[in-house]
Amino acid sequence: MDSILVKGNGALNGVIPIAGAKNACLTLMPATLLSEEPLTLTNAPRLSDIATMTQLLQSLGAEVAGLQEGKVLALSSLGPINHVADYDIVRKMRASNLVLGPLLAREGHAVVSLPGGCAIGARPMDLHIHGLEALGAEIELKDGYLHAKAKGGKLRGAQMTLRMASVGATENIMMAATLAKGTTVINNAAREPEIVDLAQCLRKMGAQIEGEGSSRIEIQGVDRLGGATHQVVTDRIELGTYMLAPAICGGEVELLGGRMHLVAAFAEKLDQAGVSVTQTEAGLKVSRKGGRIRAVDVTTEPFPGFPTDLQAQMMALLCTAEGTSVLEEKIFENRFMHAPELLRMGAQIEVHGGTATVKGVEKLRGARVMATDLRASVSLILAGLAAEGETVVSRVYHLDRGYERVEEKFRGIGAHIERIKA
Ligand code: EPZ
Repeated sequence: MDSILVKGNGALNGVIPIAGAKNACLTLMPATLLSEEPLTLTNAPRLSDIATMTQLLQSLGAEVAGLQEGKVLALSSLGPINHVADYDIVRKMRASNLVLGPLLAREGHAVVSLPGGCAIGARPMDLHIHGLEALGAEIELKDGYLHAKAKGGKLRGAQMTLRMASVGATENIMMAATLAKGTTVINNAAREPEIVDLAQCLRKMGAQIEGEGSSRIEIQGVDRLGGATHQVVTDRIELGTYMLAPAICGGEVELLGGRMHLVAAFAEKLDQAGVSVTQTEAGLKVSRKGGRIRAVDVTTEPFPGFPTDLQAQMMALLCTAEGTSVLEEKIFENRFMHAPELLRMGAQIEVHGGTATVKGVEKLRGARVMATDLRASVSLILAGLAAEGETVVSRVYHLDRGYERVEEKFRGIGAHIERIKA
């Protein structure tokens, strides 16, 4: 397994292009199953998760071609469609469960392996199941697979309220509802920009959807969907991650394609901590306001609140802030695995359940650390960039799932970073 070596190298300056959103692309790709006409996605990120979704869709009988080195994905599912999503692929990536709604809507039945838990939590699918059952699906769990069938062969529109504003459940239900008979209303729907992006793409395919981005989404089912060409929205989590580079090391960095509305809550926290974020024509410009970073408290929430996917990275910044910060992780039950690794670098962190208390220190010290999940891995790189001496982050396959060309992008702003091949 590869590792990444980083060495504190002072202030970082320059420009970083931000890619298309992994979590938008992973829900846009399964939408091809809803139509027999071609779906073209532009601004697609080059990531191993995208390769996994490609493999899954191909196993279901869809055609997926990566053009222009993978920045453009040409998808089509003329059929016949295999309606079984195999454990061997699904276990690699939870987002594989996003084929459930489209398969049910297109084929009237689906057999999808439960993804199994992952490092950050159990990640059940009860909200997906209840939502699809409300649309008239009969779903049974057998041998680790969800066996789903649309009663009478076709889903029917329904009103529903999600117990939690689940991103994946909202996406699965929305996609299934586009071809259901009648009207569907999803109350307490997730409001993430990736949901808005999916709705906009489905609308281009002929779906009748309104309210995306709010807590109430209404979908009028149609008989069939056509093809579309859609540009994947900018990745707000990659954007937020690289905004932290000048915050932690000093200097000034411009993130191309960055839009303030994608990271408003995060940018507000950075402002409180002493980091200025300004919108330019080309993107977001980030630099320290001067002096040491100040401690701030953070609570993760569904969008538009502070994103859980930026919590680990923010903790890396707060490890050397002046004062004590309290971080509350409200979305996942086990998302502080980066804390013990940061302790190895001299951070002062106490974790009790879903709360981490971080007492800022002057400087972190480089150390050998281990990546445990996608976002924890990049928080260790950020910490290493500001630490005295060298840091080696092992198990960087986590990193490649969600950050394209990560060494190149960090090197582009003057970071000392290299990959050590296993
Ligand atoms: C999406 O996961 C993202 N993944 C996650 O990003 C992100 O952290 C998460 O949304 C929250 O924003 C993709 O979009 C591919 P949820 P998802 O359903 O849809 C519980 C990353 O780093 N829950 O909103 O799985 C669940 O256990 C990844 O890019 C149920 O209890 O998230 C969690 O505690 C990590 N039952 C909470 O809800 C369900 O049926 C939020 O989950 C579904 C979810």
